[in-house]
Amino acid sequence: MQLFISLHALQVERQEQAERSVLINCQSRTNEKKFLKYLSNHGDIKKYFFYESYGLYAVVEFAKRENVASLLEGAVIPSVSHESTVPFKSRLLSLRNLSLVDLSNQQSGLQCQPQTTIPINEFIQRLSKEESIDQQITSLTEAYQLTEENSRLRFLVCSLLKDIAAAYFPECTIKPFGSSVNGFGKLGCDLDMFLDLDGISGRNPKSGLSLEYQMKRANSERAVTQSILSVIGECVDQFGPGCVGVQKILNARCPLVRFAHQPSGFQCDLTANNRVAMKSTELLYLYGQLDPRVRSLVFTVRCWARAHGVTSSIPGAWISNFSLTVMVLFFLQKRSIPIIPTLEHLRDLAGPADKSVIEGNDCTFVSDFSKIQLKSNTETLEQLLCEFFEFYATFPFSRMSLNIRKGKEQNKPEVAPLHIQNPFETSLNVSKNVNATQLDRFVALCQESSWLLQQRETNTPRGGANMTTAWGLATLLLPSQVAGIKSRKKRRREPASERIKGLLESLKNKNQPKTS
Ligand code: CTP
Ligand code: MG
Repeated sequence: MQLFISLHALQVERQEQAERSVLINCQSRTNEKKFLKYLSNHGDIKKYFFYESYGLYAVVEFAKRENVASLLEGAVIPSVSHESTVPFKSRLLSLRNLSLVDLSNQQSGLQCQPQTTIPINEFIQRLSKEESIDQQITSLTEAYQLTEENSRLRFLVCSLLKDIAAAYFPECTIKPFGSSVNGFGKLGCDLDMFLDLDGISGRNPKSGLSLEYQMKRANSERAVTQSILSVIGECVDQFGPGCVGVQKILNARCPLVRFAHQPSGFQCDLTANNRVAMKSTELLYLYGQLDPRVRSLVFTVRCWARAHGVTSSIPGAWISNFSLTVMVLFFLQKRSIPIIPTLEHLRDLAGPADKSVIEGNDCTFVSDFSKIQLKSNTETLEQLLCEFFEFYATFPFSRMSLNIRKGKEQNKPEVAPLHIQNPFETSLNVSKNVNATQLDRFVALCQESSWLLQQRETNTPRGGANMTTAWGLATLLLPSQVAGIKSRKKRRREPASERIKGLLESLKNKNQPKTS
């Protein structure tokens, strides 16, 4: 039987590791051996790795927090000649010690852990060498998922940020949520962070004591969140080493501070009081753990969507990765033998300790994986991918809303081109931002991909000397040939016969992957 680790346990372990870690900017050609020897003067090193991002960096995890304290004690404030510095001390350090550098002309031989993925057009060529579509999908998932090192770096950045926020709230924690931890994150995805003040002591009344803290009051929780984020955002902007381009977006539905953390290369979104999002992260994590096909299909659909501009890194009327994930989950619930259970079922399995009501929303669902009985669906990834496209190529989006609580579509409660009920805040539409044009593109692309996957030219491996002929999933990731999909102005669809003719033409031309 597979052993599951709960997201909560994972978070606790990673957070604790991060507290014992430092991030060090090293000189290029640092000698690894000398570097480690130098650092071990302060304590045992449990794990370390190097990576490149605007320079060479090392993440070093010590055995004890005292080791970090000892290391910091020996560190100095830099003296810069033309500028001044804010004397805020953090665990982001620079190593300026020439004796640790190899001065010979040779390469240092340092192994750097990649923190980004290979570009899609290179990846298409690699995919074409796989022997089945199932293997292509698995290989895509493996290539794009977060690595152990990237996940550690994410927790470390949260921990560094916590040190800044702790200037105001010593007992706070900063936790990653969203795709950094839900199992669906792709290397390079943004880092969603949640400032958690719930752990502050003194929330439980003690008997016999009637001494209370006097506190500033505000009109609403939202106002409190806004003022906290405003101050912390200011602090990150003014004092946070490596934090650049800080924007406070406090009037959004969910107020946030957005910035880039340069040493890690992460685009960060810091929110507060965002407990429901934490719950949806847990839910997605759980679904991803239940069956390996869930993550694989989500990765594939997300990658496909990105390749065709269905999703974008710029906010707008596009479908979001979160919406796409919920669409995949809904589809998997709708199989004739469901691959994953409905949220209602997960709620019914919950024990008393799982009960959770946040701002009036029922967020209860089972946390003990072993209580969940899965049905024995044996569909392959290839079948599922093809059926996914078929399913959404013909879904009655104009009338129906997707509901993963019930695992059923239901009449739309309000007008919106795409309606996906938020799993916990059930009166909200997850895809409220999506306009008709974007939904139409998605549907047209689903039609095209479903059709392509049913063609022998696409779905059979192409042998051949150099094996670079795109086939299977690789074909689906090539630029779309469907007329009218590319141009937003030309919205009127051609008659079906014309479309099929175009597709056949395009198949003939697809001998080489496009690298544009
Ligand atoms: N979220 C939500 N409702 C939305 C959007 C987001 O509940 N309408 C929550 C989800 O838990 C989501 C998290 O906020 O996972 C982070 O949102 P976002 O960064 O947009 O999505 P990710 O899942 O992190 O995906 P990406 O890789 O695109 O960042
Ligand atoms: Mg995100």
